[in-house]
Amino acid sequence: MITSLRGMNDILDENQSQRFTYFLDVAQKIAKRYGFSYIETPLLEETTLFKRSVGESSDIVGKEMYQFIDKGENDVCLRPEGTAGVVRAFIQKKLDKAGGIHRFFYYGPMFRYERPQKGRLREFHQFGVESFGVASVYEDANIIMMISDILKELGIGYRLQLNSLGDGNCMPQYRNNLVKFIESVESEICEDCKRRKETNPIRVLDCKNEKCQSLYKNAPKLINLLCKECEDDFSKLQKILDENAISYEIDTNLVRGLDYYSKTAFEFVSDNIGSQSAIAGGGRYDRLVEFLDGRPTPAVGFAMGIERLLELIKMPQNSRGGYYLGAMDEEAIDIIVALTHKKRATDRAICDYKAKNLKNHLKGADKVDAKYCCVIGTNEINDGTIWIKDLQNKKEFILKREEF
Ligand code: HAM
Repeated sequence: MITSLRGMNDILDENQSQRFTYFLDVAQKIAKRYGFSYIETPLLEETTLFKRSVGESSDIVGKEMYQFIDKGENDVCLRPEGTAGVVRAFIQKKLDKAGGIHRFFYYGPMFRYERPQKGRLREFHQFGVESFGVASVYEDANIIMMISDILKELGIGYRLQLNSLGDGNCMPQYRNNLVKFIESVESEICEDCKRRKETNPIRVLDCKNEKCQSLYKNAPKLINLLCKECEDDFSKLQKILDENAISYEIDTNLVRGLDYYSKTAFEFVSDNIGSQSAIAGGGRYDRLVEFLDGRPTPAVGFAMGIERLLELIKMPQNSRGGYYLGAMDEEAIDIIVALTHKKRATDRAICDYKAKNLKNHLKGADKVDAKYCCVIGTNEINDGTIWIKDLQNKKEFILKREEF
């Protein structure tokens, strides 16, 4: 038997797929309320795009890419995340030159060759947004409030962790201080951290190794070295969140696993899903558009992992809806099909193509959660009527077919 690849799941189980589509309905509705419009970008992009954005020193690019040479000798890669493709599309469409504010949302599969475990897949789905053209920290808050709205509507509790990663002014000085600190403990840190010291030192703060973590408790904190602009922005962001009743924790070790961030960085975590607890993450990336050869454009965004949310979603009470139509006589099948087609102009309508007795049709209607079970047998064919049972109120009645 051929099975799916390790770390790549089907979403077909009724419980899971209902949750998946419910999540998308809620997330899209709220993103649209915040002024975001849909963008779709290809799953396959040039490898260089991710090397230059997510960063060569990141685990994602360094270890986890589904990278291959295609039949045209192009070095390509299945997208490990959504931001890089959206930024590429933004520049390619010359929206950076056009100026103004552009807000996009997207969802779809992402691919990372990680070691699969609960909550960590090789193909997983993200819902995310990217906002271009707003330098003000109000937009960072706007996005955080949007995530909070989505999670609230889904009935999901969270903790929000917040940090500032500084900018081109303060980060270099901090990096020098941090490298000096790492050198002072270098004999005790893991091999990955020794490599990170050379490629992207701040990533050591994100190391999962317990020994390293205990050493880094004494590392210098960027938050104490932020330049005036970054410090003001970070304070203002906290003030906006306070005023809008969004609680958060400052986590000075939150550095994110992708290299493009500056200033605001955040993660939403859940305490109810085990070790892979990050349900959403994002931040500001004001330098990325320019870095990918576009006109300098401030930007901020986030993505959430849909699979990690599925088991946390509290579904609304299942309410019956729409019509189930069935024939009790072979001759009624065509009538049923035509009536179903008409009903679908305004309602959910499902029909059965086989003649069955009433009991079986009532079962069929129940199975698809229809509100009305509508049946035509010999009597109804002759009378021009249709027999209907309201499955919610348990009432039966007969209608003329033209009134149906
Ligand atoms: P990220 O933190 O790498 O950020 O991923 C966002 C979310 O995707 C995570 O919080 C997690 O819920 C989910 N996720 C990541 N890896 C896996 C996996 N292997 N299995 C299941 N779920 C996973 C980004 O991707 C950035 N592009 C977010 C962003 C948008 N920043 C700015 N704009």
